[in-house]
Amino acid sequence: MNFKYSDKIRDMKPSAIREIFKSLGTPGAISFAAGNPAPESFPVDAIADISADIFRNSANAALQYSVTEGYPKLRTLVSERLRERFSVGADFDSTIITSGGQQGIELACKVLCNEGDTVIAENPSFIGALNAFRSLGANIVGVELEDDGISVTALEEALKSNPRTKLLYLIPTFHNPAGITMSLEKRRAVYALAQKYDIVIIEDNPYGELRFAGEKIPTIKSMDTDGRVIYCGSFSKILSAGMRVGFLCAHGDLVSKIVVAKQVEDVHTNIFFQMICAEYITRYDLDAHIANIRALYKHKATVMLDALDREMPDCVKFTRPEGGLFLWCTLPDSIDPTTFINRAKEALVFVVPGVAFNCDETAGSHSFRLNYSMPSDDEINRGVRILAEIIKDML
Ligand SMILES: Cc1ncc(COP(=O)(O)O)c(C=O)c1O
Repeated sequence: MNFKYSDKIRDMKPSAIREIFKSLGTPGAISFAAGNPAPESFPVDAIADISADIFRNSANAALQYSVTEGYPKLRTLVSERLRERFSVGADFDSTIITSGGQQGIELACKVLCNEGDTVIAENPSFIGALNAFRSLGANIVGVELEDDGISVTALEEALKSNPRTKLLYLIPTFHNPAGITMSLEKRRAVYALAQKYDIVIIEDNPYGELRFAGEKIPTIKSMDTDGRVIYCGSFSKILSAGMRVGFLCAHGDLVSKIVVAKQVEDVHTNIFFQMICAEYITRYDLDAHIANIRALYKHKATVMLDALDREMPDCVKFTRPEGGLFLWCTLPDSIDPTTFINRAKEALVFVVPGVAFNCDETAGSHSFRLNYSMPSDDEINRGVRILAEIIKDML
C-alpha cells in the first residue's frame, strides 16, 4: 500500500539517538550516545514494595480510569515540592501531571500555536521538543547559545523579525545537549523580553534537581509575575524514566486548556505509576535518594572531564556541566564532523552528532554530545582516549 502521509508527519525523521541505539548491540561498543539515567539510580526495592502494597490495598484505584489533571495526592506533593525547591507556583498557577515532561512540552505548544506560528528555541536544543513543535506545524527559529545561556541580543533580533512568535522554549538549567546553565542576569533579561514582546516561555527543567557543582540559580518561573511561564518537570531523572510521569505548572487558564488537550491524547497519565511516585515521596526519603544520584553523576562527570582534559588536543572545546547528564564537544573547523563520527562508529564509540539537535535541520554542526550517566568509568576513559586518537589523527 502506498500510504499518503499527512503534511505534518511526512518529512519528520526518526530521532538520531534512537537510530544509534540500533547499532549498540555489538560486543565491546562504548556508548556516549544515550540520554538515559544510570540504571543504579532506580530505587528498585522500594518500587517493588510499593507496587505490592498498592495491589494489596488499592488495586481498584490503580487499575481504574482516573482524572486527567492527575492523581490528587501526587499533584499536591508535586506542587509543594515545586514551591519549596524552585519557588515555582504562584496563586494563579495550577499543576497537572503529564506523561513525562515530553508531553507537557508538546501540550503547551498544542494549546498555544497555530500552524506557521513561531517557536524560538536555543540552538542546539532537545530533539524531543523540536520534533513536538515540528509535528504541530510550528516554525522553529533557533537562537545561538553562549556559555551562559541564550544570546539575549540574538533573541531580541529573532523576536523583532518573527512577529508570529508565540513561544520561547528554553532549557536554562543543565541544558540538553549543551550541558550549560543560563546565568541569573540572562534569566531576568529573557523574562523582560518575553514581557516586552508578549510571548510565553516554556521553562523545561527535567535536570534541575541534579546539581552537583556550583550555586543554585533561581528558575525563570520563580520570576513570573504575570503567568507567562510554563514550567515542565519530570520524575524521569530522579526516580524512573520508564514510569513516564512528569508535571507541568502554569497559569490556571492555560492548564484548563491543557487538560482538554491531554484528554484527547491519553485521558490521563498511568495512574499506577502516579501512585508509586506519590507513595515513594511519602514513605521514603526522596531528597536522600537524589543526593545519591548527584554524587554518582558528579563522579562520572569528573571522570569524563579528567579524561577530556588529559586526552583531547587544545583545539577541541568542551563544556563543564554543573549538573545533568551531558557535555558538549566542539571540533576545530579543520575536522570534518561526519568523517569523525563515522570513524568513531567504526572504532565502536558512539556519540550523537550535533546536527541532530539543530533547529534548522539543513544546517551543519562541528559539535557532538557526550553522555556520562550510562558508561562505566573504564568505558569513559577508554572511549575518550579513542575519540582523542581519531581527532589527533585527523588534524
Ligand atoms: C531537555 C529535556 N526535556 C524533556 C525531556 C523529557 O523527559 P521525560 O519525558 O522522560 O520526562 C528530556 C529527556 O531526555 C530532556 O532532555
